[in-house]
Amino acid sequence: MDRPFVIGNWKMNLSLSKSAALARAMAEEKPPERATVVLCPSFPFIAAVAETVEGTHIKVGAQNAAAEEKGAYTGEVSAGMLKELGCHYVIIGHSERRQHAGENNEMIKRKLTLANHYGLVPILCVGEKMEERQTGQWENVIAHQLTVAEGLPLAANFLIVAYEPVWAIGSGQTVSSDDARLAARTIRALLLELLGATVSQKQCAVIYGGSVTAANVKMFVGQDLMDGVLVGASSIDAHEFLGIINALNK
Ligand code: PGA
Repeated sequence: MDRPFVIGNWKMNLSLSKSAALARAMAEEKPPERATVVLCPSFPFIAAVAETVEGTHIKVGAQNAAAEEKGAYTGEVSAGMLKELGCHYVIIGHSERRQHAGENNEMIKRKLTLANHYGLVPILCVGEKMEERQTGQWENVIAHQLTVAEGLPLAANFLIVAYEPVWAIGSGQTVSSDDARLAARTIRALLLELLGATVSQKQCAVIYGGSVTAANVKMFVGQDLMDGVLVGASSIDAHEFLGIINALNK
């Protein structure tokens, strides 16, 4: 992919003033247009961040969306609302939500379908736990998690699959370059089966997430590797996040 995705998942880490300051710092730096840069703040700060980066090529995403379209779902935020706020992307099925909010494939499929219906680019997270890797299960785990994308009517939309091994998130551990290559190839083959040749080649991207830094990002992205990265901890520091973007543009 000529324009790697560099997506920052700020998680529940930044206050309103810190979110706005980080968005401002990113907007002022004008990261190279050869990367697709997406910032994913917490729900209440999406509008402020979207306003701050307006007029730049930086896009905004959400960290989650409801599994229902509208109605009596107290505390939920729908895909339609996120679109109204200026989101272009939404993270779906992050392992932290699978773990802490009990999200399963059935809910994730509904979220994915709704995000797509409202023209948000879903960033579907998949990845195995350490014991699943150690027992040779990673491929089966990913294949099962990816079934939610089967027959997704993408029309003109795009789908990003983020391969995020659970053991690599926030741990300082990452996959090797060879494992990233193998995971990218495996996921692309699964997408081909699920969505067909044209869609899987032209409307899908596969990215890596898990302890990505400016120093290691080149291990994961490139020809035969991943199409970009989903970044947690290193995305809440403007200098480090810009370092990741710049490393991919060298
Ligand atoms: P990390 O998080 O970069 O802090 O490991 C990645 C993620 O959870 O998306």
